[in-house]
Amino acid sequence: MSTLVIEGGRTLRGDVTVHGAKNSALPLLAAALLSDSPVVFERCPPLSDVKASCAILRHLGCTVVETDSGVEVMPDGMCRTYIPERLMREMRSSIVFLGAMLARAGEAHLCFPGGCELGPRPIDLHLSALRQMGVTVCEGGGAIHCYARDGLHGATVTLSFPSVGATENVLLAAVLARGETVIHNAANEPEIGDLCRFLTTCGACITCGDGTIRVRGVHRLIGCRYAVMPDRIEAATYLAAAAVTGGELMLHGVEPSHLSAVFSVLQEAGCALVAQEDRVHIRAPKRLHRVELIRTMPYPGFPTDAQAPMMAMTALAEGTSVFVETIFDSRYKHVAELQRMGASIKTEGRTAIVEGVPRLCGARVNCTDLRGGAALVVAALGADGVSEIGRVYHLDRGYASLVSGLERVGASIRRVDGT
Ligand code: EPZ
Repeated sequence: MSTLVIEGGRTLRGDVTVHGAKNSALPLLAAALLSDSPVVFERCPPLSDVKASCAILRHLGCTVVETDSGVEVMPDGMCRTYIPERLMREMRSSIVFLGAMLARAGEAHLCFPGGCELGPRPIDLHLSALRQMGVTVCEGGGAIHCYARDGLHGATVTLSFPSVGATENVLLAAVLARGETVIHNAANEPEIGDLCRFLTTCGACITCGDGTIRVRGVHRLIGCRYAVMPDRIEAATYLAAAAVTGGELMLHGVEPSHLSAVFSVLQEAGCALVAQEDRVHIRAPKRLHRVELIRTMPYPGFPTDAQAPMMAMTALAEGTSVFVETIFDSRYKHVAELQRMGASIKTEGRTAIVEGVPRLCGARVNCTDLRGGAALVVAALGADGVSEIGRVYHLDRGYASLVSGLERVGASIRRVDGT
């Protein structure tokens, strides 16, 4: 197993280019199943979750070519309608293949994604919406067998929670369905917009507006070349790294409008931010101020995926910051590891109270999950001394070339491979 060794206390200065978004690339790769000709995704991030999605596409019979510039998918060879447990287990979000498989083949067999470090990850909203579109769902032994024997038909679906994954699955089931599908209380995250733009480019009929998505089913989708949107969470993580080291970074290849809630937290902490077309410049104060309240919310609220790295940043701020995690049941697994570095954090249910300390000390810690791992990197960059961060495979799921990206702006960081 690999370890990251970080010597903290260095001020980050320079330029970083952000990759394509993991949370857009994954549903886009599933959507490629719906096209009847090849699809090329540019700026597809080289992540283990993307590789896991490519492995699922290959298992289903597609030809997939991964190159430096992106991923090409030839979906015409699809010949299977099941995803084996070993592939499902590798990546929880593989549930997003469900809607596309049903739309393409009329059936799908996969295992329940199961819980993960963030708590139970139910799919009840996905399944109830798909049932309304003519899907029969048989559950048993941890597996789900879904059939749309008479094909998928449109429906008016109201999600009790604006679930990102459920919205994506209904979208992918609806674009080739008979008739119109209306999704009320749909997720509004930028990744949903990216998926809608891709599907529309391929010939789908989709209109979005104030939490409602309307899809009129078409007969076929034609492949295209499509650039994945920038990763707003990777951008937020680099901004937190600059902030915690009193540094100054220029981020390139970002979409500033996706980061408004993150910018306001950084400005409250005392950072100066200048956003232009696809760039944002951050200059941090020597010591950050506390942030009164960070409550995670569906977009455009503060993103839950940025909660952990931003918490690490506030651990060194002056004053007490309060976090409320409203999206996931238990997304504070990183707190115990931050405490090992000297952070003063108390959690009670979905609330975390972070009392800023003048310094953190480097320590041996382990990533608990993807964004919890990012929090440990941010904390280690701001800490005195050397930190060793284990279970780096969590980070490989969502951060491409993190070591070289941070090294290039002055961090003392190296990866020691366990092998
Ligand atoms: C997506 O997960 C992202 N993953 C997550 O990013 C992100 O945190 C999340 O959206 C929220 O923005 C990908 O896009 C691959 P949800 P998803 O369905 O789709 C409950 C990261 O670190 N819920 O919006 O699984 C659920 O339990 C990852 O990059 C139900 O109760 O999120 C959770 O509490 C982590 N029933 C809440 O809704 C359902 O059927 C949000 O889930 C579905 C969800």
